[in-house]
Amino acid sequence: MSVRIAASILAADFAALGEAIRAAEEGGADWIHVDVMDGHFVPNITMGPPVVAAVKRVAHVPLDVHLMITDPDRYLEAFADAGASHLIVHAEATPHLHRTIHRIQELGLRAGAALNPSTPVVALEEIVAELDIVLLMSVNPGFGGQAFIARSPSKVRAVRHLLEQTGSRALVSIDGGIDMGNAAMVVEAGADVLVAGTTIFGARDTREATVALRRAATPGLASVEGETPLTGGAHG
Ligand code: DX5
Ligand code: ZN
Repeated sequence: MSVRIAASILAADFAALGEAIRAAEEGGADWIHVDVMDGHFVPNITMGPPVVAAVKRVAHVPLDVHLMITDPDRYLEAFADAGASHLIVHAEATPHLHRTIHRIQELGLRAGAALNPSTPVVALEEIVAELDIVLLMSVNPGFGGQAFIARSPSKVRAVRHLLEQTGSRALVSIDGGIDMGNAAMVVEAGADVLVAGTTIFGARDTREATVALRRAATPGLASVEGETPLTGGAHG
């Protein structure tokens, strides 16, 4: 399976969300990534279930909902009802990760656990076999448009190793600062999913930027059918 692209709407124009989502889907986005922030777990406030429900009405691909909130258990049902396909909670935000993950799966959704940059991979050792998604933050969560933390590919490799050891089939997703320049490197390290906000929605042409990100992430794809490799993508 080729790399999946999750377009993070945090960087989109919220007054024209429908058009932004359509453009990302036309460019081949596999998932729409929705960043939910509560002003407690992270120093920013974004959107909640009503926005997820609105996005659900226009999106054709699964909604990958990233909960950067304290006490996520209180809101799982509301996000499931709003149309989330995946619910990802932070390991740092709940003392009962096992219960939270199983509750998400009981609701019929894919369950993911996210780690902040400073949280070691070993925090997931006891639960990883039961996860559908491991999301590694490659920036400190809270804002789009931050610089990619250079250590992140080695953390992807460490997660990959843990998945092999435990027989886990979880997808490895990486979130934060993903661009045309580092996409191939994180895929090479073992990422299955690239979450990208600014690279996709900050570009002049969201559809083209989504296509370009996949090309940049997929060695060999840039040169198929005699096409010129895209080096700078939409930022070039
Ligand atoms: C950050 C969010 C990310 C963010 C990524 O806290 O979890 O999903 O939207 O944005 P970029 O791609 O701009 O770093
Ligand atoms: Zn996110």
